[in-house]
Amino acid sequence: MTAPLQPHAATSQSLSDYVAEMRPRIESSLRRHLPLTPAQFETPYNEALEYALFPGGKRLRPVLTLLGAELVGGRAEEVLDAAVAVEFIHTSSLVFDDLPCMDDARERRGREPLHRRYGDGVAILVALGLLNAAYGIVLDAAPSEPGRARRAHAEIVECIGPRGMVGGQAIDLAGARAAGSGEFDATRNLKTSALIRLAVSLGAILCGADARQLGALARVAELLGNAYQIRDDLHDLDEDSVTPASTHDADHTLGRERIGSQVAEVKRLLAREFDEGPAAARLRELADFIARHRA
Ligand code: IPE
Ligand code: IPE
Ligand code: MG
Ligand code: MG
Repeated sequence: MTAPLQPHAATSQSLSDYVAEMRPRIESSLRRHLPLTPAQFETPYNEALEYALFPGGKRLRPVLTLLGAELVGGRAEEVLDAAVAVEFIHTSSLVFDDLPCMDDARERRGREPLHRRYGDGVAILVALGLLNAAYGIVLDAAPSEPGRARRAHAEIVECIGPRGMVGGQAIDLAGARAAGSGEFDATRNLKTSALIRLAVSLGAILCGADARQLGALARVAELLGNAYQIRDDLHDLDEDSVTPASTHDADHTLGRERIGSQVAEVKRLLAREFDEGPAAARLRELADFIARHRA
């Protein structure tokens, strides 16, 4: 289901105001980069692309890109194009993920998945087109700072490739599960945390983050990915009527404790490694939102 990115109003007003302000800018930036094929190509491609991108989901990852920039002293406006690239990559990963050869999904963002509407071939081409366009957008994202654009490119390769999201999806496809119920296995969450890392670090890299800040952000992303995934697992547990009530309750308690510890460490890291300010405060709220929410 698609849900608006709206944290609890009583405690998180500033993040929800920020999202309300930024979301229209993200939407118009996305539109600015379309269509991807020349208009004279008489194919359903651009229509399918539109279907994949709009109305979209929570736009959580592009918001993270803007916050990553602000956290290191940059401005959101400087990284709107990078935020587009991040949403393109995220959307492409969902289109691939939904294909019959992957999850064979029935629903995406409240509607039928792209391949069910336009066919597998068009869906694959849309996902490839989005991924390819994202690299081009990031290459142009810092014209006066070619070193930053190069580092941003390297970050995409790291986060999307076999050591990142693609590797995480391969683990998922193999049906691998974390061993036992002991310590958390970060590789299990790689598909999610790699993209969260890309989202937050692209904005930071393009605004001149140093290596220490990027290391801290990579850890923040891993923790957020873990929290997201545990939340997702708890939701699946709630929908599972087979698990006995006592196991369900025990697993719930454990899951909640784990989410709490991931979020607490995010907050500690943010306080230790970054200046206190609106971006750090919003990221803390976002951590609480991710921990609470299941799409
Ligand atoms: C879905 O992510 C894919 C996972 C990483 C589990 P979101 O729920 O954040 O996707 P949106 O909101 O549709 O973009
Ligand atoms: C999707 O993960 C993750 C990526 C596309 C990288 P899932 O398959 O677990 O998520 P949903 O349930 O389809 O959104
Ligand atoms: Mg999947
Ligand atoms: Mg899936």
